[in-house]
Amino acid sequence: MKKKPYLSIALATGLALSSLGAPAAFAKPAETPNQVQPFNVFDNKVLNQINVENIYNNIEYLSRTPRVAGTEAEHNAIQYVKEQFESYGYETELQEFTFYGYTAPNTVELTVDGYTGEINPKSFTYGMDGSVAGEVVYAGLGQAADFEDVNVTGKIALIQRGSISFADKVLNAAANGVAGVIIFNNAPGDLNGTFGAPNDAYVPAVAISQETGQALLDKLTNGEAVTASINIEGAEAGMRTSYNVIATKAPTNKNKAKDGILAMGAHHDSVPGAPGANDDASGTAMTLELARVMKDLPTNMEMRFITFGAEELGLIGSRYYVSQLSEAEKDRFVGYFNMDMVGSRDAGDLVINTPDGTNNIVSQTAQASSERLNGEPTPIQPGGSSDHVSFYEGGIASASFIHRPLEPWYHTPEDTIDKISKEKLQDVAEIVGTAVYDLVRPENQGPKANRGEEQKVPHLYYEEQIK
Ligand code: BES
Ligand code: ZN
Repeated sequence: MKKKPYLSIALATGLALSSLGAPAAFAKPAETPNQVQPFNVFDNKVLNQINVENIYNNIEYLSRTPRVAGTEAEHNAIQYVKEQFESYGYETELQEFTFYGYTAPNTVELTVDGYTGEINPKSFTYGMDGSVAGEVVYAGLGQAADFEDVNVTGKIALIQRGSISFADKVLNAAANGVAGVIIFNNAPGDLNGTFGAPNDAYVPAVAISQETGQALLDKLTNGEAVTASINIEGAEAGMRTSYNVIATKAPTNKNKAKDGILAMGAHHDSVPGAPGANDDASGTAMTLELARVMKDLPTNMEMRFITFGAEELGLIGSRYYVSQLSEAEKDRFVGYFNMDMVGSRDAGDLVINTPDGTNNIVSQTAQASSERLNGEPTPIQPGGSSDHVSFYEGGIASASFIHRPLEPWYHTPEDTIDKISKEKLQDVAEIVGTAVYDLVRPENQGPKANRGEEQKVPHLYYEEQIK
């Protein structure tokens, strides 16, 4: 991240006077007056109160376990977030929604008779349970034509990754009577994939590395008969329930109140197996802290602090939230600030992602605040893959704050509290907090809702997960 070229006397004093008496984590002595960039008075109302220890402590609490949408752990996190909002004095709402969910199997086995090397089979998201055995037959890339000249009925098809989706390979195999499928990687290393959607027509399927797949293929090309068995147990598909947590602050400036709505938030769920300290306990904890900071500030717009469920399963919670907004609310919505992965020590610099890469009132206001705070505006880059996309699709200005390039721990069990940088948290909380407050402060009569076109953003998953 960029070093702060300026540190105002106001900031240093403010931190010292912070309501919770927290030590200023990064306060340096004020520089000589002619180097000091004056902060706006309204910035200091926010800066004086941000306590990075609160953010850090909430990340630490939330990231003790993975928080997969629809599980008890996610529901506990939801309850915790709700209680925190309430402890600051907010009225909160739990917005319930349901979705078709999938729990990965607890047993994934592949044994190949006469093969002594280590096999580390993986399952596919939305894959089926089952126990099947049979002769292994090579079926190329698993395209329809690959099954024309081989008899695969009741057998196990060995298929190479590439060209078409994993789901289509398995469906083609199933249509030809295959009992089970082994898909091997076309690049070094293990293969973790998804079928993208459930389908009763799938047959049991496992993924293996390129090295293991090539070894099996070599046996077949040598004319050896190879038999294998696949055993997958514990996969569970079905309807699940998750919630968005919404805390609302009415405008304090009732007489002059404009009817705008400004929201900020993050997703509280994680992927399976990942404690999600950075993704996205960091954004959740920052939402909580900025809600605490703003609680008693004068404002002339309605504010909504939201944490979303089921983001990792395809932006489900935020899409539901936007789908439940009335036409009148969409007309009033000024913008949404999204914080997703805002504190990794091992990621790159802060960027502002907008789904189409263009500037809007959210990104512009954050560029202005980052320039006031750090001397230069945070760059804007096109980027989706998080809940700001749902708002964009609903015609609402939105942007997401993230450090790029991503840390190597992204979506792994290593996304833990020890990788979190308080300095990065402080920087993003200041930029987002002062930008948000710039828009809602009573003196600002400028920002108006500017409803855009509704549209669908096609990309949901990284290409490499489905094919
Ligand atoms: N925190 C990430 C967002 C992200 C990841 C932004 C990579 C930019 C690059 C988010 O939680 C995530 O993992 N998103 C999914 C997409 C989602 C729609 C399932 C992704 O990018 O795979
Ligand atoms: Zn995320």
